[in-house]
Amino acid sequence: METTRSLLLILVSFLAFSSSHVTADFTYSSRLIHRFSDKAKLLRVLRNDGGVRWPEMKNLEYYELLVNSDFQRQKMKLGTKYNLVFPSQGSKTTSFGNDFGWLHYTWIDIGTPNVSFLVALDVGSDLLWVPCDCVQCAPLSASYYSSLDRDLSEYRPSGSSSSRHVPCSHQLCESSLNCKSSKQQCPYTIDYYTENTSSSGLLVEDTLHLASVDDHKLNTSVQASVIIGCGMKQSGGYLDGVAPDGLMGLGPGEISVPSVLAKAGLIRNSFSMCFDDEDSGRIYFGDKGPPTQESTHFLPSDGKYETYIVGVEACCIGNSCLKQMGFSAVVDSGTSFTFLPNEVYERIAKEFDRQINATITSYPGYPWKYCYKSSSEELPKVPHLKLVFPLNNSFVVFNPVFVVYGIQGISGFCLAVQPMEGDVGTIGQNFMTGYRMVFDREKMKLGWSPSNCQDLADGKRMSLSPNGTPSNPLPTNEQQSTPGGRAVAPAVAGRAPPSKPSAAAHTHLPSSSLQFCYINLLPLLALWHLLVSSFPIDTGTTTHG
Ligand SMILES: *[C@@H]1O[C@H](CO)[C@@H](O)[C@H](O)[C@H]1NC(C)=O
Ligand SMILES: *[C@@H]1O[C@H](CO)[C@@H](O)[C@H](O)[C@H]1NC(C)=O
Ligand SMILES: *[C@@H]1O[C@H](CO)[C@@H](O)[C@H](O)[C@H]1NC(C)=O
Ligand SMILES: *[C@@H]1O[C@H](CO)[C@@H](O)[C@H](O)[C@H]1NC(C)=O
Ligand SMILES: *[C@@H]1O[C@H](CO)[C@@H](O)[C@H](O)[C@H]1NC(C)=O
Repeated sequence: METTRSLLLILVSFLAFSSSHVTADFTYSSRLIHRFSDKAKLLRVLRNDGGVRWPEMKNLEYYELLVNSDFQRQKMKLGTKYNLVFPSQGSKTTSFGNDFGWLHYTWIDIGTPNVSFLVALDVGSDLLWVPCDCVQCAPLSASYYSSLDRDLSEYRPSGSSSSRHVPCSHQLCESSLNCKSSKQQCPYTIDYYTENTSSSGLLVEDTLHLASVDDHKLNTSVQASVIIGCGMKQSGGYLDGVAPDGLMGLGPGEISVPSVLAKAGLIRNSFSMCFDDEDSGRIYFGDKGPPTQESTHFLPSDGKYETYIVGVEACCIGNSCLKQMGFSAVVDSGTSFTFLPNEVYERIAKEFDRQINATITSYPGYPWKYCYKSSSEELPKVPHLKLVFPLNNSFVVFNPVFVVYGIQGISGFCLAVQPMEGDVGTIGQNFMTGYRMVFDREKMKLGWSPSNCQDLADGKRMSLSPNGTPSNPLPTNEQQSTPGGRAVAPAVAGRAPPSKPSAAAHTHLPSSSLQFCYINLLPLLALWHLLVSSFPIDTGTTTHG
């Protein structure tokens, strides 16, 4: 079931931003131009400096060249304007569990006057879309959802003085072939892998309200002009309670919010998402992570970096490391629970089962096969799961199980991993719990460090150092927090055994990048959570038409 992931949109060519309370310290080079931005391209053309082959967008060469130009930019002492930028209502993110498909959400403000949206955060796709001039949208009334205390909003570009049409002639307009004239407003349609699930509408440009913290630790408001999908018509999962108020794509594509912010020179081309075990977390644009973090390079797929793929060299369950267990996986906040390729899944699950001292059981309707009874209030010791990356970088999964609660507390637990076809797995949000995950698009690396998701902007010095490079705003002696979680065995940080080379660089993408579970509450079974179905959705695939 492979779909070709076409670029939704190619390049952001405009960037308008402004900010209030700019402190004098900022050595801000008005507008940074990437060598391969349209503007640079235009300058080249104007200079008639022919013979230059523009690398195809998104291939390695493109990113290497961008990295080189970023490097030059640093050498030229052109800092970015802010170290960390976050949504105007704060950096906090929340998962409403059952109610909204187990994804993480944050409030964002768009337009003038501003309107707030509770968007799902999806690193597996690029476009930011919100319900807009609705023809067919999810219910927006708070009374429809048990977790909301205020109604969700609908965006109306005509009601925002800062909104602008994105015409079909715009470089980021992928559906331009379907336009009758170049001046027509650019339509978009994203078809998701799940049957009948899509978002479609028109592209608009409007202001996204953000915030940063200045030298004096005061909030500074930051505005950035971004492209927004005016989602007039949603279908499938999007009408059934997942992302009812829109979705923010955080993928590598040029149209995604972090790409736009970096290109505007507001931040470094990196962002982080942190997930704690209390269903909340943080998002920071510009965050490169602490120097002590572990990391691994993103892998291309078909020579392109369209999503965040990493190569796992080995897996360890407890002290037992499985040999020849290389596979690659998409790291995706838009996937609530992890999926692993069939063969990898079988070996891990069997070893997990071998080590666990509990009675296997089955919870009807759950998507997971390896579930265990737990009679006490405490879970039995669960072996830890460790993913080993090149150069001995390792990722200990703090919380690989999903705890099932009954009337009298814990009733059991399941290894929250599902098998999938194909050779590229998906590391979902449940595996990232307890970590600050850094998507460093400058170095094309994934970084991770244990974290309790504290507010990085709170009381930390946020200035640029005298030589223009951003000083590290983050504590280097960050507490190695081991989230106690729900009686999950504490993770053991340790060095990985020598890893075997693996065929990590598989060349095709999985057909899904946003996957979530629907959960129905079945009180008769005395279970708090019962998974009824799960299905994958591809937010990265566009259709033409
Ligand atoms: C800055 O704004 C955030 C989000 O609105 C708020 O939580 C925080 O308290 C503010 N900090 C200051 C110093 O005003
Ligand atoms: C959004 O609008 C409200 C009221 O119109 C205003 O108080 C608030 O400051 C605005 N927020 C931003 C980020 O501009
Ligand atoms: C998708 O839509 C088609 C036609 O409307 C319908 O026959 C099919 O059952 C739908 N599939 C799902 C999974 O809802
Ligand atoms: C397994 O659990 C039983 C009962 O809880 C206990 O007696 C036994 O020692 C445990 N075995 C191991 C290997 O932990
Ligand atoms: C990885 O760790 C092993 C054992 O801890 C060590 O022997 C090996 O040299 C390390 N490799 C690298 C590349 O650091």
